[in-house]
Amino acid sequence: MLNIAIDGPAGAGKSTVAKLLAKQLNIIYLDTGAMYRAIALKAIEQGVDVSDTDALSVLLEDTDIDISYVDEQQHVLLDGRDVTDIIRTPQISDGASKVAAIPAVRLKLVELQRRIARMHDVVMDGRDIGTFVLPNADVKFYLTASIEERAKRRLEEMRAKGYEHSLDDVKDDIRARDKNDSEREFAPLRKADDAILIDSTDKTVDEVVEEMLPFIRIASIKG
Ligand code: DC
Repeated sequence: MLNIAIDGPAGAGKSTVAKLLAKQLNIIYLDTGAMYRAIALKAIEQGVDVSDTDALSVLLEDTDIDISYVDEQQHVLLDGRDVTDIIRTPQISDGASKVAAIPAVRLKLVELQRRIARMHDVVMDGRDIGTFVLPNADVKFYLTASIEERAKRRLEEMRAKGYEHSLDDVKDDIRARDKNDSEREFAPLRKADDAILIDSTDKTVDEVVEEMLPFIRIASIKG
């Protein structure tokens, strides 16, 4: 199986790039952040504190997360309910970053992520794919961009969905999430030693994909 890992901080363009790559390579794209978001949604809906390790462990025992593809689009199923469209709010982003610090949450989701990678050629994006989920991935990328640029992109995404926020608020949210994601003890956001670093600050999505493709070609020949 061809396994491509893309990690990096919020707003670096991982999902846009990964989707395009998956389409060009005709393989699936797995957005692992959506799984953490689904757990955060359940906790918030049930009034469970997203930082309460014990309460979340209990919640997890009774939680089923699954992924399905409809017209090549990933759908996240939380206990059989399609929650794909309602997990993109700033509240869920913050909650996802908090539940993601809890090892029991990660272990449950990582098991599903590894199972998918064993069965399919996949481009997987997240924070710990190259370092923890798929340490033997065929090719690993670490995609980043300046905080200014990442905040601008997030703001545009939110505007397109009809939400108004200030650039400073978005920047603060991203900073808080970067801190949570990279300072947690278990499987923090970190560039794998063998990951290829790409800074997308001044690059278009197509330029980033073009930069990645030769590495993937080499990896698939070797694999
Ligand atoms: O990629 P995203 O913004 O949808 O991710 C939401 C949160 O989930 C992110 O702040 C950190 C967490 N996450 C993680 O810890 N590990 C992953 N592989 C993917 C996401």
